[in-house]
Amino acid sequence: MKQQLIRAKLLHFPTASAQPDTDVVWYRDGAIVVSEDKIVAIGEFATIRRNYPDARLRDYSQYWVMPGLIDSHLHFPQTEMLACYGEQLLNWLEQYTFPTERRFEDKTYAEAMAGVFLRQLFKNGTTTGLVYPTVHSTSVDALFTAATDINMAMITGKVCMDTNSPENLSDTPQIAAAESERLIQKWHNKGRNLYALTPRFAPTSSREQLAVLGELASQYEDVFIQTHLSENKKEIAWVNSLFPERNGYLDVYDHYGLVRPRAVFGHCVHLTDNEWQRMAEAQATIAFCPTSNLFLGSGLFPIQRAREYNVPVTLATDVGAGTTFNLFRTYGEGYKVCQLQQQRLSPLEGLYLITQGAACAHQLSHSIGNLNPGTYADFIVVEPRFCELTEHRLKSQETPEDVLFALAMLSDDRAIIETWVAGKPQYKRQEKY
Ligand code: GUN
Ligand code: ZN
Repeated sequence: MKQQLIRAKLLHFPTASAQPDTDVVWYRDGAIVVSEDKIVAIGEFATIRRNYPDARLRDYSQYWVMPGLIDSHLHFPQTEMLACYGEQLLNWLEQYTFPTERRFEDKTYAEAMAGVFLRQLFKNGTTTGLVYPTVHSTSVDALFTAATDINMAMITGKVCMDTNSPENLSDTPQIAAAESERLIQKWHNKGRNLYALTPRFAPTSSREQLAVLGELASQYEDVFIQTHLSENKKEIAWVNSLFPERNGYLDVYDHYGLVRPRAVFGHCVHLTDNEWQRMAEAQATIAFCPTSNLFLGSGLFPIQRAREYNVPVTLATDVGAGTTFNLFRTYGEGYKVCQLQQQRLSPLEGLYLITQGAACAHQLSHSIGNLNPGTYADFIVVEPRFCELTEHRLKSQETPEDVLFALAMLSDDRAIIETWVAGKPQYKRQEKY
């Protein structure tokens, strides 16, 4: 296939950064070159055009190209139960979540919903997710298969839950171990797929189940681990009563060898000092889920503490407790959560946390999260002035900060024109607004 030259305003973070506000790189008139599934060059348009005279030109010079977004925590079966009214975490799980997740035992249903889920991701500019399916292996296969069909980087793994969960949504330590290992061998590092050991959260896993998952974590050192941690005060009290022998919630996971790099803990709203310290020492990652934490009334994530302790943080939607698939809007809600605590979260830091910062936390920046040559051509084409209001709002300003902040506060999926995965457009907006 002929090389493609994408001309656009470009915005990315080429390296790991503690200071996204200064380490951002952008081009007012830039270009990337895509060859097959990878980016092979980036620079000023004039230079790139000279160096690649035969590449097919796609002119998006009025638009912004950014890396495909990375959602570090969301639930695929909860797509259909976004915005269910009125509960806090534990009741919400009982009342809405578990009944919905039962449907995914059915292969045909899981496959159909995997399609719906990926379309929602792409429409909103997300090209990689750390995704919770359900306890059923059918749901894992459905998601990995759909991702494989389009060469998308998918990170997921069977949810494990064997206690305090409805009977028809429960496994056992033996099933969790055998199925997780079978699915690791089937999917992990096959194409762009990556496996995540997924104990749902401490209350729904027995000691035996956590132990077998810890053994798999030590046996398969590069798999991900994903779970929930310290989201809600009642949940924390419950964990303390279920595991009185442990020194708090994080220590439950730690005792079983589940706290390490590539372990991604959703929420972490109410960590203790010891827990902050341990997260830093282990270089485990926090997925900050602002829309979800607001929706379920879980609390305000104190991002400043993560900075003080040097704990890697990413942003995530946590659909379906989260209320949008859109990571720009998710950053916008994160900004407000920080405002309520007199803490800062700049637009460039927001973009970093949903691109290169997430890629670095997940040890994937050689492959996603930026526009560097050698990475997969996962990127989005964005039209910040997509409607009358944003046209006026942005008529005199076009700095990256201002564009990103307007996207965070005013945009929705109408601002995403195209989403490319591995060198191919997987989503094209139909209408012009
Ligand atoms: N804790 C355990 N399961 C879940 C879930 O599905 N959503 C959220 N927000 N928290 C959880
Ligand atoms: Zn979650």
